[in-house]
Amino acid sequence: MAKALFPCLPFVIGGAPSPASGFLSLPLFQRLASPPSTLGAQLRLMADINTNKGVSASVDKIRQFLNSNPSGGWERCWEEGLTPWDLGRPTPILEHLIQTKSIPDGRALVPGCGSGYDVVALASPERCAIGLDISEVAIKKARQIGMLTSIQIRNMSFCGFVIVCTLDGKTKRLILLLTSVFTSSEQLAASSPNGNYCSFLLEDFFTWEPRDLFDLIFDYTFFCAIEPNLRSTWASRMRDLLKPDGELITLIFPIDDHEGGPPYKTSVADYEKVLHPIGFQATSVADNELAVAPRRGREKLGRWRRMTGASAL
Ligand SMILES: C[S@@+](CC[C@H](N)C(=O)[O-])C[C@H]1O[C@@H](n2cnc3c(N)ncnc32)[C@H](O)[C@@H]1O
Repeated sequence: MAKALFPCLPFVIGGAPSPASGFLSLPLFQRLASPPSTLGAQLRLMADINTNKGVSASVDKIRQFLNSNPSGGWERCWEEGLTPWDLGRPTPILEHLIQTKSIPDGRALVPGCGSGYDVVALASPERCAIGLDISEVAIKKARQIGMLTSIQIRNMSFCGFVIVCTLDGKTKRLILLLTSVFTSSEQLAASSPNGNYCSFLLEDFFTWEPRDLFDLIFDYTFFCAIEPNLRSTWASRMRDLLKPDGELITLIFPIDDHEGGPPYKTSVADYEKVLHPIGFQATSVADNELAVAPRRGREKLGRWRRMTGASAL
């Protein structure tokens, strides 16, 4: 069962793929992500789960775990491989925001980070990213994915360094080869999120006390995962964890009218209801054109900031 839901995982964790596959010529994150066929399988699975055609067996099981054991239910889902929310790659709209440099640098937080792809995507020399999750299994997976990113970058630089030390100055072909190794190392470091700038903490979002506040918090499928009666507390935590001029970026999903959860249905009004009273206003709310196919039309990107002078009730 777990293998069917995570067909990409042994591939991700199991070391470098063969250069003959052409895989090594892809940007690092495309290599970490699922091959198209497995991603397709995951998306079909999510389509089953997220449409109103009927509640799938997976969702029933997830809800059963969470209802019978609210504190350990998430861990159980991860242990059983019941993670249909997991894209196996960074969220496309977040990648777009990062590539177009339209999100804050500094310190970023992803609560309920799961496998942590979004955390690694956010991490860079300009932005230190922290992922939080209450599941030990999730945090372990996220750390493996983060570590794989940083090891690959370090290994390539180290490889170049060894060749420099052993060159005797006569082998011009080697010098050319060396230049190429350095170039690809630099390109890789420049174009890839960097595992050296992220960390993953086994913590509860509702009780964790960080030493420093954040410039950016990114929430995707966390708001819809928590009990609706926790939404006001969720909003207060966002306020307390963000710097006064920090930005909260939310992917509002699933916007539909199904009953029960998780995932619980959401709407822009649900966010406004808890964010407006503590001074947050939307700076933009727009359909997410880059949503993965099964979620398209049911997802909006909401960007929020606290307005000075707004009520701080
Ligand atoms: C639906 S999953 C979303 C994971 C990830 N954001 C994604 O899109 O793949 C919700 C995640 O939140 C985590 N979680 C639930 N309650 C939490 C809490 N109080 N603090 C931190 N993480 C929590 C769960 O373990 C789970 O990994």
